[in-house]
Amino acid sequence: MNTKPIVAGNWKMNKSGEEGVSFVGKIKNRILDKAEAKVIFCPPFTSLFSIVKTLNGTDFGVGAQNAHFEVEGAYTGEISVGMLKSTGVQYVILGHSERRHIFGETDVWINKKIHAVLNAELVPIFCIGETLDDRKSNQTTQVLENQINLGLQGMDSIDPVKMIIAYEPVWAIGTGETASSDQVARAHGYVQSILERMFGQIAHEVPILYGGSVNENNATELIQTDGVDGFLVGGASLKEESFCGIVEQVSKFYKR
Ligand code: PGA
Repeated sequence: MNTKPIVAGNWKMNKSGEEGVSFVGKIKNRILDKAEAKVIFCPPFTSLFSIVKTLNGTDFGVGAQNAHFEVEGAYTGEISVGMLKSTGVQYVILGHSERRHIFGETDVWINKKIHAVLNAELVPIFCIGETLDDRKSNQTTQVLENQINLGLQGMDSIDPVKMIIAYEPVWAIGTGETASSDQVARAHGYVQSILERMFGQIAHEVPILYGGSVNENNATELIQTDGVDGFLVGGASLKEESFCGIVEQVSKFYKR
């Protein structure tokens, strides 16, 4: 792929509005001149406006962590894609394993959300990944294939380059256990082959991120793994040193 590696920080339900603004302000000052990676912050909904404003005029991206697929209506507690768009975000994480496993989101819902986000000309960061049980029972490829097929149903006419995929094995998220390079390379290769079957050669332009306990100690090895175009980072995206460390390492591997 001929683009900058991507480092997206998924803050989950962490940092108040003030903490978030102060955090991105510090990161901005530290890494603004090292524009060799595309850095995306995904804070909670309540911080989106102020963080977009803080980063105005820079190359940093801002994303939401979820969206509802309906335009408006009686959906207590939900946020529409249009509402997100009006905050100035460019990305939306969809299908994260915590949404799937804690909140029971189905592939059908995720598919509707992906459509809604693409229709609004925002970029979905579409998360997929197998559980430990799936892996132990040799179901990894089947699970990935199902998630992609169902998640991207009806997407034939859409330009796949407008989305980002994040492969995040559920057993590696927040556990400190990272998938090995070999496991990551195989999964990314497999995801790539499914996308190629769906979209043809252009699928090679779809960035595929790895996520699951990425930190400043494993970023260099993981970014050099075949098929890895960047990271979706949870825990380590909350700490200035770790996050900047990851961005600095990834920046060395701009695959021109
Ligand atoms: P982690 O989370 O880096 O804390 O494992 C990754 C994610 O949930 O996206």
